[in-house]
Amino acid sequence: MTTRLAILGSTGSIGTQALEVAAVHPDRIKVVALAANSNDKLLAEQLDRFKPSLAVLADGAAADRLRARYHGPARIMTGEEGLTAAATLAEADTVLTSLVGFAGLRPTLAAIEAGKTIALANKETLVAAGELVTALAKEKGAAILPVDSEHSAILQCLQGERPDTVHRLILTASGGPFRTRAREELATVTVAECLRHPNWAMGRKITVDSATLANKGLEVIEARWLFGVDYDRIAVVVHPQSIIHSMVEFVDGSVKAQLGRPDMRLPIQYALSVPGRWPADFPRLDFAALAGLTFEQPDTGRFPALALGYEAGRRGGTAPCVFNAANEAAVNAFLAGEIGFPDIAALIGRALAAHTDVAAPTLGDLCAADAWARSFVDRLIPARK
Ligand SMILES: NC(=O)c1ccc[n+]([C@@H]2O[C@H](COP(=O)([O-])OP(=O)(O)OC[C@H]3O[C@@H](n4cnc5c(N)ncnc54)[C@H](OP(=O)(O)O)[C@@H]3O)[C@@H](O)[C@H]2O)c1
Repeated sequence: MTTRLAILGSTGSIGTQALEVAAVHPDRIKVVALAANSNDKLLAEQLDRFKPSLAVLADGAAADRLRARYHGPARIMTGEEGLTAAATLAEADTVLTSLVGFAGLRPTLAAIEAGKTIALANKETLVAAGELVTALAKEKGAAILPVDSEHSAILQCLQGERPDTVHRLILTASGGPFRTRAREELATVTVAECLRHPNWAMGRKITVDSATLANKGLEVIEARWLFGVDYDRIAVVVHPQSIIHSMVEFVDGSVKAQLGRPDMRLPIQYALSVPGRWPADFPRLDFAALAGLTFEQPDTGRFPALALGYEAGRRGGTAPCVFNAANEAAVNAFLAGEIGFPDIAALIGRALAAHTDVAAPTLGDLCAADAWARSFVDRLIPARK
């Protein structure tokens, strides 16, 4: 059976790797819609190569540039309306959500509402609105399949296992580029150093999140919603080689792990092939060449964003949405050179401390909490006063 795929965020790190997977499997994947924000040049190349029927650039000026540059048959749309059209296209059965941040929430909800299968890379959506998204997916019978390598690993470990036999989930973390830096050195690290991830080539936002361990905080919350396991049974272990992508420990003490090279094409492909597997000739693990697999406890003293993620998740309601929005705002400020590296976690902590949680939030409550957290962080950035 052919998967008819819409990709939201096709010009990004995940989106371009998803298209590499589609190119390997033209008999299994038909790309029917591509959407991005403003990269008209790359999107035009993708349209020529993959020939979807719909192309979207959220940015209006970029969509005009695309119209001037591209003369093929795909319909070109823009804005929120365009993203919703790509997410709900009748021709698509699966939507890969690989845009960044809270901006992914509305299109993801629209895709679920339309009964699409979701291949979820945009973890921020599930963090900010886990309760809402999973309840709607249940109501509409829409599957949410993880693209994140850790959650893909857990899904693979859970195949053939009964939910009541799971003792705990163990997420692995690379530890990022500053794993061995002393606390006092973190105040002066640069954006360029932060963007040099030891194992993975990814978009800028997630690369910063990996360095602060906010990414692992987001992933703990993501795991809670994907697998229905409570926070006391989700552990994090630092594994600097990024070969074990995550593990499941069962009630009898047995542990299953999923291993592979750090290559996002594998979890992207698995989200599209599950419960089956498709052959692929991506580079393989060479055990003889592995120097060793090591593990250590995460240091939440130097990297407090991980503990803040747990705190937000346990509080529930709008707290995870605030955790996510404060992080997005602080990461943008860090990338703009307006704040230092430790300020990211400090700002998330201050936003969580100042926020009054709303239980069982509606979409309106979540949008309000997101906007509140962004403006709260904004007011604390010295350069913006
Ligand atoms: N990269 C990884 O290896 C990886 C691994 C696990 C999970 N993830 C998750 O996957 C998601 C994507 O990450 P990434 O690293 O691929 O990001 P990225 O390289 O920055 O790409 C983001 C994509 O989303 C588009 N986009 C951004 N804002 C948008 C908006 N408001 N409306 C429409 N399109 C928008 C961008 O378009 P333009 O190019 O036009 O700006 C681009 O296509 C994130 O949630 C991340 O946490 C990524």
